[in-house]
Amino acid sequence: MAEDATRRAPGRGRFITFEGGEGAGKSTQIKKLAEHLEAARLRVVLTREPGGSPGAEIIRHLVLSGVGKLLGPDAETLLFAAARDDHVRAVILPALTQGAWVLCDRFYDSTWAYQVKLGHVAPAVLNAMQRVTIGDLKPDLTIILDLPVEVGLKRAASRRGSEAPDRFESEDLKFHQELREAYREIAASEPERCVLIDADADVNTVAARVWGAVGGRFFVNPANVAAPA
Ligand code: TYD
Repeated sequence: MAEDATRRAPGRGRFITFEGGEGAGKSTQIKKLAEHLEAARLRVVLTREPGGSPGAEIIRHLVLSGVGKLLGPDAETLLFAAARDDHVRAVILPALTQGAWVLCDRFYDSTWAYQVKLGHVAPAVLNAMQRVTIGDLKPDLTIILDLPVEVGLKRAASRRGSEAPDRFESEDLKFHQELREAYREIAASEPERCVLIDADADVNTVAARVWGAVGGRFFVNPANVAAPA
């Protein structure tokens, strides 16, 4: 169970999540942001969902194997929630309490987009799970990388090479288009937390856009924060 007390405690770190569809470039961009913040001498913890802690990584293996299709949407959502519960307690809250900047590749918006909007799990089910797993914990900033579905799927396929697509990559084009819409809706509904970034550009251009969002929000003079070599 998440502890609410850490949320605005003095010296607490920052919590930034990255979201987007398949092949949006989250893992590349999150690493670039980590380098940028580390160059500014900030302590960074880079993590991901599902997974991010030893217990949650075991569950990751299970959900990406496609077992959720056998269990049904509610049970699959429970697996994501169980993984999140361990990850929040074992990694995210301790790091934030110690003043680290936690950068997380996917968090609860993924559950909202994939399981609620596309998997038709009732919002009340997710809300009940959230109360248990994350309590009051909310990202300070969520970067949503947005790009045309065809571009993302092409990128995901070339990254994967000869490996088989995972549970969600193998869904059809309509699924991925609805996923993109779901993320755009999230960005529009919570503009104070979320920034939608056009990710249909080269890596450095997108990284500059991400830095624009992060620097503008958290640093008085972002231009003076060292850029990675
Ligand atoms: P991953 O290989 O990490 O994909 P990506 O590079 O796209 O982040 O696989 C994670 C998959 O799990 C991804 O397809 C999204 C899905 N997912 C959910 O369906 N619900 C969730 O709550 C989370 C965190 C992820």
